[in-house]
Amino acid sequence: MITPQTIEQITSRIDVVDVVGEFVKLKRRGANYLGLCPFHGEKTPSFTVSPTKEIFKCFGCGKSGSAITFLMEHEKYSYVEALRWLANRYGIEVEETEMSDEAKQHAQTADSLYIINGFAQKFFAQQLFETEEGRNIALTYLYERGFNDATLEKFGVGYSPDVRDAFSKAALQNQYNPELLLRTGLVRSYHDELQDNYRGRIIFPIHNNSGKVIGFGARVIGKKDNAPKYINTPENEIYVKSRILYGSYFARHSIDKNDECLLVEGYTDVVSLVQAGIENVVASGGTSLTTDQLRLIKKYTNNLTIIYDGDSAGVKAALRGLDMALEEGLNVRLVLIPDNEDPDSYVKKVGAAEFKKFVADNKKDFILFQLEIMLRDAGNDINKKSEVVNRVADSLSKISKAEDFTKQQEYIKQCAAILKIDEQGLTTLVNKYKRDSIAKLEKNQAFEEQKQEQETVDTSDIFTTSDDAQEKNILRVLLEYGLKNYDEERTIADYILEETASFPFDNNDYEQLFQLYETQYRQGLQPTGKSLLYEANEKNQSLIIGITMSKYELSQLWDERLGHTRKEQFILGRDYSVQDATMSVIYFKLRKIKRMFEQTQSELEQATAFDEQMRLLEVHKYLKAEEVSLTQQLGTVILK
Ligand code: CTP
Ligand code: MN
Repeated sequence: MITPQTIEQITSRIDVVDVVGEFVKLKRRGANYLGLCPFHGEKTPSFTVSPTKEIFKCFGCGKSGSAITFLMEHEKYSYVEALRWLANRYGIEVEETEMSDEAKQHAQTADSLYIINGFAQKFFAQQLFETEEGRNIALTYLYERGFNDATLEKFGVGYSPDVRDAFSKAALQNQYNPELLLRTGLVRSYHDELQDNYRGRIIFPIHNNSGKVIGFGARVIGKKDNAPKYINTPENEIYVKSRILYGSYFARHSIDKNDECLLVEGYTDVVSLVQAGIENVVASGGTSLTTDQLRLIKKYTNNLTIIYDGDSAGVKAALRGLDMALEEGLNVRLVLIPDNEDPDSYVKKVGAAEFKKFVADNKKDFILFQLEIMLRDAGNDINKKSEVVNRVADSLSKISKAEDFTKQQEYIKQCAAILKIDEQGLTTLVNKYKRDSIAKLEKNQAFEEQKQEQETVDTSDIFTTSDDAQEKNILRVLLEYGLKNYDEERTIADYILEETASFPFDNNDYEQLFQLYETQYRQGLQPTGKSLLYEANEKNQSLIIGITMSKYELSQLWDERLGHTRKEQFILGRDYSVQDATMSVIYFKLRKIKRMFEQTQSELEQATAFDEQMRLLEVHKYLKAEEVSLTQQLGTVILK
């Protein structure tokens, strides 16, 4: 039996249009989609699919149902087969009731975390409204910013007292398990005691789409230079950042009704707009949008309007999500708020009516907007201009769904006009990009072809501040030759899984792929880059392609240090996989340790209590020793 959790996971991901659209050609008609009924012969379409109701209905023969019943009727699947088809399509791992202990643990932990978060939310809200400290410090501040009681209550806003362990105490009194409390990120452990993590902060609870609290954003009161403005919940069983849009629970119906979703950066932007009566609004937290987030939006509307302040770094982040949004078939528009205002301050300044008018008047089509920006940057430089043309063609080629064909044509026309180039020429170029990406998807080929292309060394990743390069490199080694022997007892995969077990990946996408690999490997399925490519969902596919094809990154660099080149390895048939794996692991660990260093360092700077300082110094010393040891190991590998 498939577990209720998995079924929940599957059903929450279902996009009925996407599923039915796999078998029936659908055209958008208002809020619904229309096509020729596959269940009875008809010439004029009366088969309707409603994405918001998540159902199909044929007004000709009367057949109706959900995506699941559609699969059962049309493909003659059993219920379970339909679920598996969907799970496979959405890359969801199917948990059986005969669950592994690990999976059981995961589900139980998730349930407990919901409960603790619910308790915490109530606790913080009570502190805000019913204690002197809350009212004097936090509520006053929130009133000053113009938030009223009704709004604060709606969003469940709260306050965490500026006390060492106010929440910890309350939670322990209520018998909550310390381990689980730690996982929520609400508390930390200090000398075997629990202490509050969000002291003296305003608390914004974050809800999932069924209204459960999955995490928190904790904001300092006023301006403080020596502390981060927000502390957010760490990734855990229920808080998966890439799937969260703040405010979506409250915005769903309004997004549906308005057939438009407004996207802003911050918690306060959402809260302010909703208070002003503009309810179809969610926030991304200023990072670039993920496919999961876009799909969440797409369940309700195809129209996404991004509203950011003009000079926000978030604009750049949002631009990065553009191609993905196009692939998802969203109409993306952008509005920049002027004069150093953000949506929160702007709506408070001009009021809801004027805000809406401003948005309506200044909505810029995202593609055209991007084009204008790139053109401005290119100036009169011919090379840069040609690059712009290529970039635009590439973007436009992402509009690939049949029903969006007219949209694409329209864009080509407009872009060609702006670029002052021939429309037909641009069409040809767009088609070329389309073919290229199709070819890329023809997996096998792409695999071999691209491998040969990579000649240039790009080491820039090594110097970036994220752990991406190191994490990616671990995946590369796993996918490339995880099944080879590392030593007499272990494969390279064994070695890597063992060595990296205590260091979680930062990059969520990589983490998921890593887990997919690990699961398959543990089941004895002998996964490789190639085998996974056939089974993975689209996102993982492009990840795998990216990882296995991309510049050889670190390994290339240390090939050089090792005094040989990949070509040599290839030609002479030498096998450096063990060294490659070892070095990848060492670099990965060094990176993680460096991060922990930074963390301890900043905690040290803030720690005032002597005991705390001592503890942190111990940690510091330990990390240093680890670093030295790893560096030595690195030396040995290189000298080998
Ligand atoms: N953010 C974060 N951590 C920070 C700063 C920002 O997670 N240290 C995220 C939060 O989701 C925040 C969003 O980025 O809501 C936008 O940041 P910012 O505009 O600085 O915050 P606001 O929510 O607008 O807060 P305020 O209006 O109080 O400045
Ligand atoms: Mn703000």
